[in-house]
Amino acid sequence: MKYLLHTYGCQMNVRDAEAVAAGLEAAGHLPAIDEADADLIIVNTCSVRGKAEDKAVGKLGLLCATKRTAPQRIVGVMGCMAQRRGAALLKRIPLLDFVLGTRQQQALPALLPRLAAGERGIVLLDDPAITPRVPDAHLPGAVSAFVTILLGCNRRCAYCVVPDVRGAEYSRPAPEILAEVRQLAAGGVREVTLLGQSVMRYGRSNPVWEAPATGSFREDLPRLLEAVSAIPGIRRIRFTSGHPSGCTDELVRAMRDIPRICPHLHLPVQSGSDRILDLMRRGYTAAQYLDAVAHLREAMPDFSLTSDVIVGFPTETEEDFEATRRLAETAAFDNTYIFKYSPRPGTPAAAMNDDVPAAEKMRRNQVLLEDQDVRGQRLNEACVGRTLDVLAEGVSLRNDQRWSGRSPGNKVVVFERHPSIAAGDLVPVQISRAGPQVLYGEVRG
Ligand code: 5AD
Ligand code: SF4
Repeated sequence: MKYLLHTYGCQMNVRDAEAVAAGLEAAGHLPAIDEADADLIIVNTCSVRGKAEDKAVGKLGLLCATKRTAPQRIVGVMGCMAQRRGAALLKRIPLLDFVLGTRQQQALPALLPRLAAGERGIVLLDDPAITPRVPDAHLPGAVSAFVTILLGCNRRCAYCVVPDVRGAEYSRPAPEILAEVRQLAAGGVREVTLLGQSVMRYGRSNPVWEAPATGSFREDLPRLLEAVSAIPGIRRIRFTSGHPSGCTDELVRAMRDIPRICPHLHLPVQSGSDRILDLMRRGYTAAQYLDAVAHLREAMPDFSLTSDVIVGFPTETEEDFEATRRLAETAAFDNTYIFKYSPRPGTPAAAMNDDVPAAEKMRRNQVLLEDQDVRGQRLNEACVGRTLDVLAEGVSLRNDQRWSGRSPGNKVVVFERHPSIAAGDLVPVQISRAGPQVLYGEVRG
């Protein structure tokens, strides 16, 4: 059978999609070139905003309509919206063949014979009583890989639907993670990004180590990072996403002292206004966020910082918004992912009046984007003339005469093709030109 996956949302979804693809390929199925070529199409959905869900429902409707001319085609949905809406999706999209919850990806290959035999409308959601299942299958051939270390989230940010869909926090036992990374390294992976919705809480909800610490670190995440960095072949380690309360002295020391850990964090701030942060139940003030950033910058001179911001949270005033703009500048975000607030059913914020008009959310979104462009250009220009270690990933998407890779700070670096460079090499690239999002340079030596 030929399969196609459409993935929306965050890295967690990208990771889940890879695990599903790997499971299908292990069962003998092949990737399709496009929709027309596919016997099985899965939409991997995100629930962060209502619009993202609407789009996914629209897409699924269109895909199901193609069954009129391709009656054998199987169309299913997975990811956060699948988990959140479950069987209700079958009412909305009657031709939908299956709905898979966020911890059910591994069930798919076994469902296919049932679907091929004509069974329809299969719904498999997560039962919190079941031992959490962590996706561990990977596709071969990658230089960089995501590894899930923590499922779910126990924070209750007022706007966020994730705790409802991804369930309670569960930290994977460290030996399991290390075995997965070892296997990836043996297959040629050079960079791993350890994933968790609130990754710095690794090990806080359930024990993850069998024996007491013997290395330089006692806390669970630093200890895991140290153990991953000892795996031969792994050149770079990242982890995402963070929270300022997790930036402990020990974690910052680990980032500073373990050379393979990249000096980069994605540390969502959401707002620069203390009043809004409090309503969001984020658990920190703007000053505390900036303290965490100062701590990180002090330890790592080349530290790079990316963040998420929500604009138009209920009651957000122009003044609150200006505080966010100032914070983004003070913290010197290398990149900002901006989200227009969208009330999500069942969340505490959904009970508040969504009072910022859509046009105003759009305007604030645009203003932050423009600020980011100016700041990104300025910060990136400061790299011109410097030589950065770039992990070569492959041919640049825009220009096949060039290669692209990433700097330690996670910036995309585009450089001239070089016959001796292979994917997975760490190459010194001297930066000659900068855009707000991309650096350009030449390979040295
Ligand atoms: N509305 C808008 N953005 C949201 N996010 C999470 N929930 C919402 C919501 N209800 C954003 C946050 C989070 C990112 C993944 O999505 O910024 O960090
Ligand atoms: Fe979207 Fe959040 Fe689910 Fe990721 S975890 S796919 S951002 S809803």
